[in-house]
This record gives sequence, C-alpha cells and structure tokens, in this order.
Amino acid sequence: MKTKIAEKFKTLFGEEGDFFASAGRINLIGEHTDYNGGYVFPGAVDKGIMAEIKLNGTDKVCVYSLDMDEYVEFGLNEEDAPAQSWARYIFGVCRETVKRGGKISGFNTVFAGDVPLGAGMSSSAALESTYAFALNYLFDCGIDKFELARIGQATEHNYCGVKCGIMDQFASVFGKAGNLMRLDCKTMEYKYYPFHPEGYKLVLLDSVVKHELASSAYNKRRESCERAAAAIRKNHPEVEFLRDAKMEWLEEVKSEISEEDYMRAEYVIDEVQRVLDVCDALERDDYETVGQKMYETHYGMSRLYEVSCEELDYLNDIAKECGVTGSRVMGGGFGGCTINLVKNELYDSFIEKAKKAFSEKFGHEPKIYDVVISDGARKLQ
Ligand code: GLA
Repeated sequence: MKTKIAEKFKTLFGEEGDFFASAGRINLIGEHTDYNGGYVFPGAVDKGIMAEIKLNGTDKVCVYSLDMDEYVEFGLNEEDAPAQSWARYIFGVCRETVKRGGKISGFNTVFAGDVPLGAGMSSSAALESTYAFALNYLFDCGIDKFELARIGQATEHNYCGVKCGIMDQFASVFGKAGNLMRLDCKTMEYKYYPFHPEGYKLVLLDSVVKHELASSAYNKRRESCERAAAAIRKNHPEVEFLRDAKMEWLEEVKSEISEEDYMRAEYVIDEVQRVLDVCDALERDDYETVGQKMYETHYGMSRLYEVSCEELDYLNDIAKECGVTGSRVMGGGFGGCTINLVKNELYDSFIEKAKKAFSEKFGHEPKIYDVVISDGARKLQ
C-alpha cells in the first residue's frame, strides 16, 4: 500500500511527503454504550488508512483517494466543503482542527486503506484520526490525544450527519498492539488490557451486507436513549446518561415512554453492566463467561435495540451451533460483521461451516478477518 501511495504522490505532485497511518477497530463488548456515557472495550486492528502528506504553501487541500480513484481540491473555509462524501471526512478534520485553534494551511495528500468499508470496523474513524494526527504533527498544533479523537467525532457530527459516540475515534487514536482498552465514556478514564486469550482466537465474519439508512437509524437510537434518560432524570436528577440509571428506575417510567424507547434503554442498561462483567471474567481468564456475555449482547442488539439483520442473526446462529464460545454483531449494526471468540480446535470447522451455510442461504460467502490487535494513529518512518 505504501509503495502505491508513494508512486501516485510522486506522479501527481512530483515530490515526497511524510507518511501517517491509523487503524480500524474491533470492540469486544459495549455496543451503543458510548453515547450513553457507558463503557466500551475496543482495540485497534491491523487494517487501517495510510496517507502521504506534504504542505503545499497554498490555502488549498489537494487530495487523491487511491481506492475511489478520485481527485478533489477544497479550501479551508466553512463554505469550501467538498461534495464527495469521502473528502468531507478530511475537510471536517481540517475545520475541526481550525476550530480548536490549529493554524493550518494547504497540503497535498494521497491516501488508501484496507479497512473493509461498511463492515462495522470504522474505516471512517481510521481516516479521521490519520488526518487529525497528521495535521497536529505537521502544523505543530499542540492538541492532546483526547481532543484528536474528538476532532474525528465532531467531523462525523458536523460534516457527515452521524451523531456517533467517541469509541471509534478513541480506539483509532489510542490503540496499542496486543491491548484492548476499557474506556469509561462519561469520565474518559481508560485502561489497557493485554489481550492474549490462550487457546482462543478472535475472528470477524463479515456478512458483506450494508443496509440503507444506517446513519439515520443510528441517530434515532441515540434519540430514544436521550428521551428515556430525560424521563428517568425527572425522578432521579443524578441521571446524566442512561449509564447512570438502574433498571428499577427505567421501570418507574415505563408508562411515560414509548415501548420502543423502553426496549432501547433496557438494552443499554444491561450492556453497560455486561462490559464490567466481561472485565471481571477476563481477570480470571474465564472466557466462557466472556463468550456468554457476547451472546447476550447479540440477543439484545437483535431483539431490543434492533440493529441486527437476518444475515447477522444467521451468522450468530451458526456460531452457536458450532459451539463457538462467544459471538455477536459488532459495531453500529445494520450489516457488517460478527465478532467471534472461538476455541483454536473449533476454528477450522466453524469457518468452513459458516462459509458453506451462509453462501447456500445468501448466495455469497462471508469474508473472514482474523483479528490482530495493533497500534493506532502514528507517523511512519
Ligand atoms: C458506531 C459509532 C460508535 C458506537 C458504535 C456502537 O461505530 O461510531 O460511536 O456508538 O457504533 O457501539
């Protein structure tokens, strides 16, 4: 990938720049908890975005996407937003950096990636954090790592229409090889957890399905949670986010909120607890419990939060039938991957069975990605 980027950069701009990269992410457990002030448990992966960048002394950004085979130029003012959705991520990062006092000017850049798009591994966060990290470095903006993650999140909110939480950008900026991270999205306290489950593998099965309207459905889930939290807050003013609520408190307002909002909130309150349960289980190397919690998350995401789909439910069923320790839909949902915790000795038969059964039913095989937990945003040598 680096060679291809360098060749294109040289052809387009006739010079060489610096290389930066960042990563997509997995999440062991804690889904749709981040914007509810709860816990998440992600890690960066060995698939990401790489970019070559060189300042060009103008006020224009000249960017070429190798994967889209498309060249775009844009200025750095609010009214200069490009039409191409992929370029809006980079534009958004520039704007959000400027809003934080970063003094930036134009640059030339070529980028490419190997995070599968729409797989729920957050290719967009990888793109945002590559550029947030690079601009901070190249223009010496002095922005701290949390704020770099927030630049990516604000880009999603203000330039891409997704009211996402902080998990993806956090994972992409803070990722460390061999470590998962537990983040408390209310206090922003985090802890690295070395993750080497002896005798097990983590593998993603990508349904290669991406459902329409995923971002508007995502925003609706968030609104449901906010309404439920507001109803509970009337009785319990300490409830800032759903994370602060107890199931009994949700019960008290059951008749005041819609059935749908109730289901969403029920899932979230359970899921926040499941992250803590998984952390406890990991301290004891109790992977059976970790796996069981993953199945519970899948059930909740499918039946209560309603962000799964037929293909992902099917992959989850196959995992169960094959005796896989844990399996669930990963990321925002509405398509993408399941994440599976599989005993080494079951791995081959599980993958074979899943490929066969899935393609018989849906006409194509799922894609398989072995998880390698890797570093996040960085400058390459
Ligand atoms: C998407 C969002 C994250 C998070 C997950 C679900 O990836 O970008 O902030 O909410 O969905 O856990």
